[in-house]
Amino acid sequence: MSPKGKIADIQMIQLPKIEDKRGNLSFFESKHQIPFSMERVYWIYDVPGGHERGGHAFILQNEFIVALSGSFDVRVDDGKNKQIFSLNRSYYGLYIPNGIWREMRNFSTNALALVASSTFFSEDDYIRNYADFLKYKWG
Ligand code: TYD
Repeated sequence: MSPKGKIADIQMIQLPKIEDKRGNLSFFESKHQIPFSMERVYWIYDVPGGHERGGHAFILQNEFIVALSGSFDVRVDDGKNKQIFSLNRSYYGLYIPNGIWREMRNFSTNALALVASSTFFSEDDYIRNYADFLKYKWG
């Protein structure tokens, strides 16, 4: 078995930034700036100091995460290698393919995490136990 989703597949993507004296504008579109089609957008906000989000992997869903305001870290793990990405600009986003364990931490005050997902919500797509994740990835 050759599991999808290795650390090397994760990409920090710089988004267009249209600067204007009225302020800046950035955007992303399915299959243009991000390498998948979106079915869902959700956002994480009002995270109390010191709390973490994530702590799971997805079987099918691909995601793209943008720090629309504030900052936070995304720790990714493919079962063999780990990396931490810091998100702190609204014109950069992190593409995470399926099959990657992720944790989000160090949320600043007023951090707003926008997440675009390739699938509709399904709890069945989650692997929430790290030992199960390792088994799923590497047998
Ligand atoms: P979860 O994905 O575990 O949050 P995080 O990864 O940010 O820590 O989701 C938290 C809860 O919200 C869980 O009960 C599932 C529910 N949920 C939805 O109903 N729809 C969604 O689109 C998402 C992302 C979560």
